[in-house]
Amino acid sequence: MSVLKTIRWLAVGAILGLVAAWGFHFWREGHAPDPASLAGSSIGGPFELVDQTGATRRDAEFRGRYMLIYFGFTFCPDACPTALLAMADALDRIGPLADRIQPIFISVDPERDTPEQLAGYVDAVDPRLVGLTGSPAQVAAAARAYRVFYRKATPTSATEYLVDHTSLVYLMGPDGKFLAHFSHETAPERMAETLRRIVR
Ligand code: NI
Repeated sequence: MSVLKTIRWLAVGAILGLVAAWGFHFWREGHAPDPASLAGSSIGGPFELVDQTGATRRDAEFRGRYMLIYFGFTFCPDACPTALLAMADALDRIGPLADRIQPIFISVDPERDTPEQLAGYVDAVDPRLVGLTGSPAQVAAAARAYRVFYRKATPTSATEYLVDHTSLVYLMGPDGKFLAHFSHETAPERMAETLRRIVR
C-alpha cells in the first residue's frame, strides 16, 4: 500500500471513529432528537402530576405565565443538575422578567422521585422550581406530550440505576405553546438572552 493510501484509510478510520463516538455520546446522554427537528413540531400538552408537596398540578394552571420545563431525575449525576442550575442562573440574569416564568422539573423516575425526595432536591437546587412526579402512567403521559424519551439504564444494583433521558429545556408560552428549547449545555448567558428576547 502506498503511503498516501495508508493515510487516506487512517483518515477514514478516524472520521468513522469520531462519528461513532458522537453518536454514542448522544445516545448515552439521551439527547436523541435533533434539536433542529423540534421547530414547528407539536411539543407540549396537558399533564396531570403531583408536586413536591403532594398536591395535584395540571398544566392548565400555568396559562398566562411562561413555563421553563426540564425532564430528568434527582439521582442524575450530570445533565440534570447542569440544566437546572443553568435555568436558575438564567432566571437570575433577567431581573423582574423572571416573575413571568415558572421553572418546572418533571421526574422521569417516579419510582424513586417521591414528592418527599423532590422536595429536598428542589429546595437545594432552586426553591422557585416546581418539582413534579406522579404515577408511572402520569409521568409517561407528560413525557409523551413533550416528546421526551427515557429508559432505565442497566442497574448497578437493586436500588441504584441511571435513567437515560432526553435532555432539553423547553420554553412554553403563556398559551402553553412551544416557543424555544435549550440543551443542558446551553450557557446561562445565552439562555437569558433568548428569554429576554421572547418573554413579554
Ligand atoms: Ni439527567
